[in-house]
Amino acid sequence: MRQDAPAEPIAWSDRGVRILDQTLLPNEERYLDIDSIDQMVEAIRSLRVRGAPLIGIAAAMGLAAAADAQAQRALLNQEWLESALADLESSRPTAVNLRWALDRMRQVVADRSNGGRSAHDVVTALRAEAQRVWDIEAGMCRAIGEYGATLLEPGFTVLTHCNTGRLATGGLGTALAAIYVAFEEEEKGIDVVVTETRPLRQGARLTAWELVQAGIPVRVIADSAAASLMAAAEIDIVMTGADRIARNGDVANKIGTYALAVLARAHGIPFFVAAPRSTIDPTIESGDAIPIEYRGGEELDAAPGAAVVNPAFDVTPADLVSGIVTDAGIVTPPLEEGILEVLAAPSR
Ligand code: MRU
Repeated sequence: MRQDAPAEPIAWSDRGVRILDQTLLPNEERYLDIDSIDQMVEAIRSLRVRGAPLIGIAAAMGLAAAADAQAQRALLNQEWLESALADLESSRPTAVNLRWALDRMRQVVADRSNGGRSAHDVVTALRAEAQRVWDIEAGMCRAIGEYGATLLEPGFTVLTHCNTGRLATGGLGTALAAIYVAFEEEEKGIDVVVTETRPLRQGARLTAWELVQAGIPVRVIADSAAASLMAAAEIDIVMTGADRIARNGDVANKIGTYALAVLARAHGIPFFVAAPRSTIDPTIESGDAIPIEYRGGEELDAAPGAAVVNPAFDVTPADLVSGIVTDAGIVTPPLEEGILEVLAAPSR
């Protein structure tokens, strides 16, 4: 693996928050400085910054940076904070990490109304909490990687989908963290296959870019090639990330995940999901209640005049999931029982 530092998807900057514009990868590494709620909402909606954990981190940091700018104009007040929280929360519907991060920020805002603190104190507290959100997510990634790597046996070929690495998490990743950790054990000889991930090609553009940068060999396949590779016994395990996991273990993730889980079952291949506990939504009994984002038709290459249906996520039923790799251990069926156990477990 390469030793120099990889490109960071997010950072604090003098002007607020600096993000790597992921819509331009792999062709161009361009960074954007953000110091307003509108800019951060736009960056999240347009997938300049993306991936379940990273959008929560970005929203939290964006709130802190925008509150700072607002305080410098002597315009920071409760009404502004509440509307900023609501705008950020509505930027994307499916990944629950966004709500998880903003609920923590909301708590800081609520503490402020009780304590009657100065605007400067509020900004300091918001910034500290945003950094905590980032630190917690990054710490959970490492733990997921270590647990997940135990599933990647020597000589295995792992199939993954979308992008679940540094670019999606602000840490090592989720499913990709398991691959990074397995690669640290060089003798294992793991082989990585990633789906292109239509329509926005996060697998071909982002995962392939990340792994090549890290010196990890990767083969990209068209989404439609997964079945034939499985039939040819070329895949030993499928591991994906998640955007929201219901209490019963149903998993919402990037569109195409459900198809991979069905294919894995049909070919007797284990299908694992890797996610931090911030991706589990204990308020939702099953996947039926997970809001699915539908995106614009322009993301597909269709003949003018044709209607386009473009769901960005799908739900994989729990019974197709061999296990969920969390930061508190690997949950195996019955998933509901295990999910409640990891939610109650202390952090590492
Ligand atoms: O639409 P995106 O690119 O934000 O979708 C990302 C995914 O679906 C990832 O698989 C998911 O966020 C888990 S990665 C930590």
